[in-house]
Amino acid sequence: MNNETSVTAIHPDVERMLVSEEQLRQRNIELGAAISRDYADREVLIVGVLKGAAWFVSDLTRQLTCDFTVDYMAVSSYGAAHKSSGVVRILKDLEVPLEGRHVLIAEDILDTGLTLKYLIRNFLARGAASVEIAACVVKEGAQEEKIDVRYEGFVLPNEFVVGYGLDYAERYRGLPYIGVLSPRVYEDA
Ligand code: IMP
Repeated sequence: MNNETSVTAIHPDVERMLVSEEQLRQRNIELGAAISRDYADREVLIVGVLKGAAWFVSDLTRQLTCDFTVDYMAVSSYGAAHKSSGVVRILKDLEVPLEGRHVLIAEDILDTGLTLKYLIRNFLARGAASVEIAACVVKEGAQEEKIDVRYEGFVLPNEFVVGYGLDYAERYRGLPYIGVLSPRVYEDA
C-alpha cells in the first residue's frame, strides 16, 4: 500500500465522465448537512428506490446527524431498454406503514418524473405527513411531470448515464463515478 491516489481507469463503454467520485463525496456531505438541518426536530423515513438509489442512500445516510430510518421500495424502470416505458409497477413494497411519517424519497435519477409522481401520490394516499425528494441526478429538460426536488445532487444533460448505482441492463452500477454510456452499447443491442 502507498499513499498515492490511484487513477481510476474510465470503463471502455463510457464515453465521458460527468461526475467524479470526489464530486459525489462532496455533494453528499452538502446534501447530508441540509437534510440534517431540515429534519433536526422530527424523524425522517428515507425511502430508497431500488436498485439504483442503494449507492446514494448508503453514502448520504452516513452524513446524517438527524434521526432517521431507512426502507426500500422496488419499482419497475427501464428493464433492458434505455427509454422510459412510463409504466410503474411495484416489485417490492415498503415494510413499514407511512401513516403520520415524514418521508424523504431518495432516487438515483429524475428523468421523465413518472416514477416519482407515482410514488409521491402513493405515499400521500397512505397517510404520510410529508413527502420530499432527494435525487442524486436530475436530467435537464427531460421531465414530463413537474416534480419538486428539495435535495438535488447534480443537474446533467439529457443523455443516458451509468455508474454510482445507475445501470444499463443491470451493468455498470458499481462504477464509482457517473458517466455517459457510449450509444454504441445500446445501438448494438
Ligand atoms: P423516470 O420515471 O423517467 O424519472 O425514470 C426514473 C428511473 O429510470 C430511474 O430511477 C432509473 O432507474 C431509470 N433511468 C432514467 N434515466 C436513466 C439513465 O440515464 N441511466 C440509467 N437509468 C436511468
